[in-house]
Amino acid sequence: MADVDGRSLLDRMIDRMTVQRAALAWARDAVAGLDGMVLEVGLGKGRTYDHLRTLFPPRDILVFDMWVRVPPELTPDEDRLFVGDFQATLPAAAERFGRCARFAHADFGSTDRDHDAGQAAWLAPLIDTMMLPGGLVLSDRALDRPNWTPVELPVTGRWTYHAWRVAG
Ligand SMILES: C[S@@+](CC[C@H](N)C(=O)[O-])C[C@H]1O[C@@H](n2cnc3c(N)ncnc32)[C@H](O)[C@@H]1O
Repeated sequence: MADVDGRSLLDRMIDRMTVQRAALAWARDAVAGLDGMVLEVGLGKGRTYDHLRTLFPPRDILVFDMWVRVPPELTPDEDRLFVGDFQATLPAAAERFGRCARFAHADFGSTDRDHDAGQAAWLAPLIDTMMLPGGLVLSDRALDRPNWTPVELPVTGRWTYHAWRVAG
């Protein structure tokens, strides 16, 4: 399973986690003092959600995923959790909360890059409907919106992460 550079699955997992942690810490500082909620688009195993809870109190965190596969202590409150396809749950959350998010973390990548690229094309506009002007978006996959400006992440590592500032 090692890749062309001879890096094992464990190496790559560590690469990913290291960059994620640094990118999330940078995002926390980048929105400090500006009000607004946090979106976690991809609960997965709850690793980054748990980390967001430590980085962003007392902000509300709205959480999205197709499934809830986390233990009770990592399960968001019912009124902050949106279970189902992002295509349905993001519009539902937008209807309820409007433009509420200062920061969105979109961690939805799979091993199928073509699938992820297709998903990115419809996901970015849905996230955009929830972003406050001047908000920040961070993702494990490239996203694109005309009103989002790419931001160079001051994070070094062997994993690619992306950031954008929403026009203010
Ligand atoms: C990379 S994992 C998230 C990892 C998570 N942030 C963590 O730290 O444990 C991606 C997640 O996105 C979810 N996902 C991908 N596409 C989705 C979709 N269209 N609707 C809802 N959830 C989706 C998957 O179910 C998966 O749990």
